[in-house]
Amino acid sequence: MTFSHSHLLGIEPLAPPEITTILDLADQYVDLNRRDVKHADALAGLTQINMFFENSTRTQASFELAGKRLGADVMNMAMQASSIKKGETLIDTAMTLNAMHPDLLVVRHPQSGAVDLLSQKVNCAVLNAGDGRHEHPTQALLDALTIRRAKGRLHRLNIAICGDIAHSRVARSNLLLLGKMENRIRLIGPPTLMPSGIRDFGVEVFDDMKQGLQDVDVVMMLRLQRERMDGGFIPSEREYYFRYGLDAEKLAYAKPDAIVMHPGPMNRGVEIDGEIADDINRSVIQEQVEMGVAVRMAAMDLLARNLRARPKAVMA
Ligand code: NCD
Repeated sequence: MTFSHSHLLGIEPLAPPEITTILDLADQYVDLNRRDVKHADALAGLTQINMFFENSTRTQASFELAGKRLGADVMNMAMQASSIKKGETLIDTAMTLNAMHPDLLVVRHPQSGAVDLLSQKVNCAVLNAGDGRHEHPTQALLDALTIRRAKGRLHRLNIAICGDIAHSRVARSNLLLLGKMENRIRLIGPPTLMPSGIRDFGVEVFDDMKQGLQDVDVVMMLRLQRERMDGGFIPSEREYYFRYGLDAEKLAYAKPDAIVMHPGPMNRGVEIDGEIADDINRSVIQEQVEMGVAVRMAAMDLLARNLRARPKAVMA
C-alpha cells in the first residue's frame, strides 16, 4: 500500500502511485456500495466530525454516508448555528472539537488555506472538503475514478475543463491530478474567468468552445461561481450560455464517445443544456456522485490506517 499521509489537504502533495492506491481501494468500495448490505468496519470505533462552513449538499451527504458505511460514529456540526457566529475563531472551534477526541475531521471553508491551518492545530486526520478557490481533493479523485472506469485508463487522454476556471477549486485540483497522471489538458472559458499565468501549468488555453473541444475524450463543465465574483466577469447568463454553455452543437466537436462531467450543483441553461446533462449515453454526472461515496470511503480508510499505525500520544 502506497499512501503515507496523515491528512488529505490537497492533490498537490500526492504522488501518482498514491493516487492509484486511493482509486484502487475506491473501486472495491464501489462493489460494496452496490450490495444489499453496505457495511464494512474499516472505521469502526472511530469518530468523524463534519464541519461545513459553506453550503454543501452532495459533498456533505457523501462524506456522511461514507463514514457510516465504514462503521464510524459520524457527527455533522451545524456551523451556521455554531459559536463561529458568536465570534469564536475557526481555530478555537477546532480546538474545542479536538478535545472531544475525533479521529477524522472533514472541513469545508470559504477561505483558501483555512483547512491546512486547522490541520496543524489538531491531532486527528483532516480531510479538505473544499477550501475557497484552492483545492477540493476528493472531487478530483472522484472525477479521476469516473474517468478511469469510463475510459479504461487515466493517462494520455485529452481532457477539456470548461467555464469558470478562475474561481474553481475543482478545476485546480483536477488540473493537478490529471497533469500528474500525464493527460493533455485544455482549459476553455472567457479570458475574464481564466487565472493569469495558467499556461505555466502546461495546459492549452482556448476561449472558443468549438476549437477547444476538437477531439477531446472528456468534457468537464464547471459551475459559474457567482458567490466568488465581485464584479462583471460575464456580460449576461444568456450570452455566456450562447458562447460557453455545453449544447449538442458544441459537443459534436468532441470525440463521438466523449463523456460529459459536472461536479454539481448544475445551472441548467447557463453552463450546460439540461438534455445533455440527462443523456445517459454521454453524461456521467450520476456516476460522479456514486464514485464520490466510494472515493471518500477509500480516503478515510487509508488515513485511519495511518492513524492507527502512529505511536500513541502519551495521555496527560
Ligand atoms: C463544487 C464545490 O463546492 O467546489 N461542488 C461540489 O463539491 N460538488 C463545485 C461548485 O460548487 O460549483
